[in-house]
Amino acid sequence: MAQIELVDVVKEYSVWHRAGRVRRQRKLVRAVDRISLSVAEGELCGYIGPNGAGKSTTVKMLTGIIVPTSGRIRVAGKDPQRQRIELARRIGVVFGQRTQLWWDLPLADSFDLLRHVYRVPHDRHRANVNAFIDLLDLGPFMQTPVRQLSLGQRMRGDLTAALLHDPEILYLDEPTIGLDVVSKARVREFLASVNRDRGVTVLLTTHDLTDVERLCTRLVVIDHGRLIHDGTVAEIKSRFGDHRTVVVDLEEAGPPLEVAGAEVVGVDGPRQWLRFDRQATTAAAVVAAVAEQAALRDIAIEEPDIEDVVRRIYSGDAASTPDLRDDPSRA
Ligand SMILES: Nc1ncnc2c1ncn2[C@@H]1O[C@H](COP(=O)(O)OP(=O)(O)OP(=O)(O)O)[C@@H](O)[C@H]1O
Ligand SMILES: [Mg+2]
Repeated sequence: MAQIELVDVVKEYSVWHRAGRVRRQRKLVRAVDRISLSVAEGELCGYIGPNGAGKSTTVKMLTGIIVPTSGRIRVAGKDPQRQRIELARRIGVVFGQRTQLWWDLPLADSFDLLRHVYRVPHDRHRANVNAFIDLLDLGPFMQTPVRQLSLGQRMRGDLTAALLHDPEILYLDEPTIGLDVVSKARVREFLASVNRDRGVTVLLTTHDLTDVERLCTRLVVIDHGRLIHDGTVAEIKSRFGDHRTVVVDLEEAGPPLEVAGAEVVGVDGPRQWLRFDRQATTAAAVVAAVAEQAALRDIAIEEPDIEDVVRRIYSGDAASTPDLRDDPSRA
């Protein structure tokens, strides 16, 4: 069953802007433009897109904080706005940009308060708090007021706060923003375990594509409010990442090689990078052509990384998007 469902969802904000010296004009900004999406129970779905794409707007609609202009949203079969109170018990939310914890209270007290807010049975609450203290190593700062926590500590507190009432669905809006590499890794491990061991359905918004690679079984990409890709990470790579790079270490440094179907994109002493289109040639042919021109010491083949692929999608030069991008019914 779909836990999160959007059908043709549109969200327009009205903004006022100056039209002349005094006059102001109302303008509509379409932040989300006919998005349809269905996330199944237990999925860990990445929801990415460039700044201003409409990600946070989508998450806010899913929590019921804001209402879509048109279209239909169901979360656990319910209308997030009309059945907001009922749904609150079943969803958890983390906005990385701001905390939901009480600024002046230590984590321990915040967690106690949340037990009352969500009316979690005492034993269940105790067990959850202990499990999260363990998983996220919260012990050393449970008694520190939230205002004194570092960003990474606070984020671990926020994640716990979002999960103490055993929600089935978790929305994460940039949960790793501003964290160091070790904290990021810890948060990722934690999210993976929450999804795997507790079966929580997760919608994850992030600008960190390592989050996506490590965690997501599925990746949805939006841009200018529109859905431009929905599939697995492997699919997006094979669909948009049609380039490979052969890295050759030559016996001696020399001028850039000339190989049909490949382009030298970097030279560093005896090392050269040759980029080629998989549709046009093969790594074997490129290597063979290089071997005819120079003595080879070593070779490596680089797959396109997700950063590369996503950069191309965002910049609009990915060749294979017309089916979605130029669909006249979406104009
Ligand atoms: N309250 C608002 N009033 C008017 N316009 C808004 C409002 N909130 C967002 N927008 C506009 O809607 C669009 C989508 O914004 P949103 O915050 O959803 O993007 P985002 O994908 O979360 O971006 P980011 O990666 O920067 O967080 C932007 O053009 C933004 O300026
Ligand atoms: Mg945002």
